[in-house]
Amino acid sequence: MSVRWVMPVPGYLDSSVFLFLFPLLECPLTFSRVDVARSLLGDCEYRPVDVFEAWAPVNIALCKYWGKRDAALNLPVNDSLSVALPDKGTRTRVTRLQGESKDIVFLNDQPVSEADGFYQKVVAHLNLFRLDRGDRFRIDTVNNIATAAGLASSASGFAALTRATAGVQGFNLDGKALSILARVGSGSACRSVFDGFVRWHKGEAVDGMDSCAAPLSQVWPGLRLGVLTLTGAAKKVGSREGMARTVETTPLYSAWPAQAEADIAILEQAIVDRDFELLGVTAEHNAMTMHATMIASWPPLLYWEPESVAVMQKVWQLRKDGVPVYLTMDAGPNVKLLFESPVEDSIRQVFPDVEVVKLFP
Ligand code: DP6
Repeated sequence: MSVRWVMPVPGYLDSSVFLFLFPLLECPLTFSRVDVARSLLGDCEYRPVDVFEAWAPVNIALCKYWGKRDAALNLPVNDSLSVALPDKGTRTRVTRLQGESKDIVFLNDQPVSEADGFYQKVVAHLNLFRLDRGDRFRIDTVNNIATAAGLASSASGFAALTRATAGVQGFNLDGKALSILARVGSGSACRSVFDGFVRWHKGEAVDGMDSCAAPLSQVWPGLRLGVLTLTGAAKKVGSREGMARTVETTPLYSAWPAQAEADIAILEQAIVDRDFELLGVTAEHNAMTMHATMIASWPPLLYWEPESVAVMQKVWQLRKDGVPVYLTMDAGPNVKLLFESPVEDSIRQVFPDVEVVKLFP
């Protein structure tokens, strides 16, 4: 584990005091992704296999992750809570290569060039699992989600890549370790390591070893998510940049962490009680609050398109007409609907193109 001194040494500490204190500073004061990987994988038994395949679901947050306390490790400011989409996600196969000097990456059956940002992100993640060995891999990753549907594939992608690469190296990791490793690829990926309702505990530790997701035990067979594919433009500002801009430029952000913590507590209770109205109100209000902080950033971050607003207005009209349906949105123009099975026909009448996802068996 590397030792890096990053705190300024106060002038009143002369060198003899510093030498006396130095042995106490065994732990690094900042941590890199490699430090995290070494501490989780360094003692794992290496039992390489030729090929390993893994699946991970997309997840939609009911209480959003927005804002990082450590950008390098994707450590969040607040806890978040999501639900997995059982049949939508990423399947990734990792094959060990012999005699190759570089990794090879295929996305949806198409080769990805080394100059592509996607290739570089995948290789950076593989580096965590190589440790000091020269292993090279072929990655075949397939998303069964239309990109235009606005369901982020980076969460399921990093979760599947984490599971598959750990598998090909023969590392026997528990859910917590997989979740931490997926998180350093993309924050929300830590939730895609699990099915069902999942809470990401933000943690307090500087190395992020307590910042990981854990599944909730409850299921909700009647719960539905409606995916609306809008003709929106591609995402203009990615989550990473959008979060940094929000945290740095809007005074509204100071209200966000407390609101998110309060919302999580309410959502957990709503899930235990199967109180759909409480779940829907809280999830929609949470998404709107996140978007309010984005809009109040500078330059403003407005992910909504005219079609998004039209959908919102239809949802609010449906509620006025007595149909319990709520919405949530992420860092893009698409809207996802939350409702229960008895109102599915009413939803389909208003949104004929909606794709309805059953969230639990
Ligand atoms: C709005 O997990 O994509 O979807 O950690 O920078 O990769 P990085 O961000 P990412 O952010 C997701 C943000 C969100 C809310 C959520 O899913 O909780």
